[in-house]
Amino acid sequence: MRFLDRNPPQILESEAKQFALDHYGLEGDFSPLTSERDANFRIHTASGDSFVLKIANADEKQGDIDFQTRALLHVEEQDPDFPVPRLVRTRDGESFIPVTSSQGTRHLVHALSFLTGRSMVEVPTTPALWHSLGKTIARLDLALRGFFHPNARRAHPWDLTRSPDLRPHASHIADRRARRNIEAVLDRMAAEVLPRLRALRHQVIHGDANPDNVLVDPDVPDRVAGILDFGDMVYAPLIAEPAIAADLESVSSEQGLENLRALISGFDSVLPLEEGEIDLLYDLILARRAITAVIIAWRKIMSAGQPAYLLDREQPTWNAIDVLLKMGRSSFNNRLRSACRFPPYTPTLEEDSAADPIDPLLKRRHDALGSHLSLFYSRPVHIERGRGTWLFDTDGRAYLDAYNNVPVVGHGHPHVVRAITRQTEALNTNTRYLYRSVIEYAERLTDLMHADLSVCVFVNSGSEANDIAWRMAQFATGARGALVMEHAYHGITEATAALSASEWATPTPSHVQTLITPDPYRGPFRSGESNLAQRYATDADWAIHNLIRHGLKPAMFMVDTIFSSSGIPNVPPGYLKDVCDRVQAAGGLIIADEVQAGFGRCGMHLWGYEMHGIVPDIVTLGKPVGSGYPLGVVITRRELLNPFVHETGLFSTFGGNPVACAAGMAVLDVIEDEELLSNAQETGEYLREGLRKLASCRAWIGDVRGHGLMIGVELVHDRKSLEPASEEARHVLDLMRDQGVLIGRSGPHGNVLKIRPPLVFQPEHADLLIEAIDRSLAKL
Ligand SMILES: Cc1ncc(COP(=O)(O)O)c(C=O)c1O
Repeated sequence: MRFLDRNPPQILESEAKQFALDHYGLEGDFSPLTSERDANFRIHTASGDSFVLKIANADEKQGDIDFQTRALLHVEEQDPDFPVPRLVRTRDGESFIPVTSSQGTRHLVHALSFLTGRSMVEVPTTPALWHSLGKTIARLDLALRGFFHPNARRAHPWDLTRSPDLRPHASHIADRRARRNIEAVLDRMAAEVLPRLRALRHQVIHGDANPDNVLVDPDVPDRVAGILDFGDMVYAPLIAEPAIAADLESVSSEQGLENLRALISGFDSVLPLEEGEIDLLYDLILARRAITAVIIAWRKIMSAGQPAYLLDREQPTWNAIDVLLKMGRSSFNNRLRSACRFPPYTPTLEEDSAADPIDPLLKRRHDALGSHLSLFYSRPVHIERGRGTWLFDTDGRAYLDAYNNVPVVGHGHPHVVRAITRQTEALNTNTRYLYRSVIEYAERLTDLMHADLSVCVFVNSGSEANDIAWRMAQFATGARGALVMEHAYHGITEATAALSASEWATPTPSHVQTLITPDPYRGPFRSGESNLAQRYATDADWAIHNLIRHGLKPAMFMVDTIFSSSGIPNVPPGYLKDVCDRVQAAGGLIIADEVQAGFGRCGMHLWGYEMHGIVPDIVTLGKPVGSGYPLGVVITRRELLNPFVHETGLFSTFGGNPVACAAGMAVLDVIEDEELLSNAQETGEYLREGLRKLASCRAWIGDVRGHGLMIGVELVHDRKSLEPASEEARHVLDLMRDQGVLIGRSGPHGNVLKIRPPLVFQPEHADLLIEAIDRSLAKL
């Protein structure tokens, strides 16, 4: 704490004049400038130029002055137009020079050009000015990025990372409440913030770019004209820079908070912040206030000539700490995050909730999206973050995601995120231009398919892919009839909704015929009976016949190869092959809708059609293709695609854009690198086995089935009558949600628990899931 009780050196103006003349050849009008530690003089020369002569405190080390002056030279080299004072060399070309005062003390002197402008503390500030300050200090930090000096790690009381060292001196704070607050802030810095800070970006920062050291040109009041005083530079976490720049006002009033948001968004616009950084601003701004409070109290005790501007700040500093603590980390972080377009903050369980009250949020949702857009669960989950196979709500609660297939490689997978970000930065356009990514991605995808399936059409969703596939089939066959499964879901467009029997209201579309679900558990032909596959497949003949009765021929049979909306039945081996043979014999094409089954969902194979031993004419992909980035694909034979596109001039504005392709490529990388197919197979098998064991003691479970990580657990009232336990299944979903495990349900009766997690799901997650199902069934 030696540093804290220092006051500026007592240098006579006449001495300063002599130093300036002797070493710099500078003379003119001298006026003293305020400084906490140095004796600074402004020199106004006869030619109209202005300089600052800085006479350092006798205790200031040579290395520290060397550090400052080298930093200024570095900034000048990296960003020649950056508005900081320029170093003036001595007559001998030195950066600084030692002098001896009349009292015999030795001081280091350096000279700088004088920047004009008014101090930011003297002008009315606006969010625009704060934004400009944020941008300016970020630009300064960019210029300082490659700079280092051995003295950059010197002990410095204002260094936020050393703030816990001041903890013993907090005892000097007279006000008990303020003292307790400050001690708590410093304790948290030591215990929780510093370890996190150490993992963040570090570099030499200015370290004191608060409004006292900022100049504004009165003629351009919304822009920073200069940054002064490099005496507090330090090697520190980058995020300390904007934290220090925030002034007292910034947390004490609504206007102050707006200014702070402007400061941070300005900084972020030049030097994008990382999430770990922006979330520590709360603690760092508090720590800065705590340091101020301790230093003021220490100086009072030491009667060490308190500068008036510091004394004035004692009560406001305490108040600011109070306001911040009352506001809480979550709401503070959310205010700053929204300014930089970061998604909302996810608190930890120990922190204050960031949750919006659910009813007003629901009302806003109803007002904005219409009141019938459904939500999962009786008590909706407010999710703002996902990682791997976990989702987090705004109270910081973690939910095991055992339902979402879109983030196939896990929520927020860094490889996918990076690929999307990098490509977004480089280019996003459409397929009317030549670019490599769409070609490379199409080549890679088709290499993963049967050799006949060699060309791609890129769209933006499963519905669009199915819509195009249906059009293509009609075009190729000249027929207008469609065959689908009785509980199929294929999309939301007019054409695909007509192909989605699960969505039909009366009257049913006259050009579509359905096939009964090949369900050996509750269908007309059951496990143990002979020729199951063939007996179910003959229904295709009926369906084709019915089309013909309506004067139609089948253009295609569209099938979700995992039969997801049909309750994930255990389709008899050979069934699909048999149906396809019948459809093809009647002139129809086979469209494998791989929106659910594709990308390794079924474990052994990348595509569901492989499981059934068929080769479709057209394959459609959606949901997991971009692990959340919208992308749909139609893959087919060359001879089917070429005439169709020639005739229709098919084009999709967003389909196949470079960013979508980058996402798609990255997803395939991860599936390969992390061996997600075998994981889906092994973890899926482990999970099914566990569920079957559970079935032996929970009579609600009638059947456990599925492939890979697409699993159905059918709930029944009675294993003989098979009466569907539909309401109970709905209740189980809610009970599981309350235990922090998310699943869905499917099937015509809604009594099949649908388990369909990201493919990074591991056996330990499976254990958690089984326990939650067990506990939920026990409560029925
Ligand atoms: C099998 C299947 N096909 C197509 C779709 C439609 O995909 P999208 O919602 O991307 O339009 C879905 C959506 O659930 C689906 O499950």
